[in-house]
Amino acid sequence: MCETTATVEKKKVLSCIQPSGVPTLGNYLGALKNWVGMQDEFDCTFAVADLHAITVRQEPAKLRQQIYSIYALMLALGLDPNRSTLFIQSQVPEHAQLSWILSCYTQFGELSRMTQFKDKSASHADNINVGLFAYPALMAADILLYQPDFVPVGADQKQHLEIARDIALRFNRLYGDVFTVPEPYIPRAGARVMSLQNPTKKMSKSDPNPNGYVSILDDRDTVIRKFKRAVTDSQTQVCVGEGKDGVNNLIGIYSAITGKSEEEIAREFEGKGYGDFKLAVGETVADALAPIRTRYNELIADKKQLEVYYREGALRAERVARKTLCKAMKKVGFVL
Ligand code: TYM
Repeated sequence: MCETTATVEKKKVLSCIQPSGVPTLGNYLGALKNWVGMQDEFDCTFAVADLHAITVRQEPAKLRQQIYSIYALMLALGLDPNRSTLFIQSQVPEHAQLSWILSCYTQFGELSRMTQFKDKSASHADNINVGLFAYPALMAADILLYQPDFVPVGADQKQHLEIARDIALRFNRLYGDVFTVPEPYIPRAGARVMSLQNPTKKMSKSDPNPNGYVSILDDRDTVIRKFKRAVTDSQTQVCVGEGKDGVNNLIGIYSAITGKSEEEIAREFEGKGYGDFKLAVGETVADALAPIRTRYNELIADKKQLEVYYREGALRAERVARKTLCKAMKKVGFVL
């Protein structure tokens, strides 16, 4: 019998995260954790979306620190710079270039419907800048430059992904097959982690109440304390149900980390109260985050090594991005 030597090209994956503070458990379960697992099967590209971060006012020294910090955290989670392309968005100028082109193929009306724009312009009423409005065109550029098949994100980014797909389809209709039209990859459990204090709101690092979110770098005691204080309801049974937003959220978190189904979780905690359940979720989350924190502390202490990784990552990313940008520019009619 002959063995075939044909190599099958891996499908491509792209995603990004903003450097706007230490990521939360929501970022971890909705996105980052899945990125790590996708590295074996896919050709992966992941970036720190720093251009996106300045759509709200940032303090320069703090922003710089947060960019380093997220990059180190991506490595600490297990993203491997030898297998995946890991870079900082602003170091690859093609993102801004393609973003301009794509914004000329994006309608005012469709951007006006973006819920994130509506939310952010309400919470930053003194700074409703053009960048905040045009943000989805930049995100479309981030994605389309790398021709990915899948984009792993939490449920809150679904609308932005849909507009990226619409822009790609529109451009392709006009100019032929320029962009791959990507599929969202949204996890079954953990796609929308809610605030521990107000489980009708998504968990977010900009929550003014720190008990509402768990940061990936919170220490063990802090993690457990936050879960012990998590808002539940007046019932007693650990199971998914209507009007049980707090418990539903905790079950979702526990399921995303342990891989157990909702039914298995309900069986595991049968006859036990919310107190036992909250402690178990807190301990499980703390156990999952502990090794990440240790590794992060080593990586952030060595900025020289980080620089080697992000410079190399930017070079690799740019080789791919340049090719797509040139293709799009040529189609539009620019002189190259
Ligand atoms: P960002 O930085 O807000 O969040 C990074 C990732 O975390 C997910 N996420 C959540 N998932 C579940 N529950 C939550 N409470 C939660 N909060 C955040 C987000 O869905 C996201 O996947 N615009 C993007 C960054 C971006 C991007 C891109 C993403 C820029 N360019 C291109 C994909 C492709 C953002 O602000 O994510």
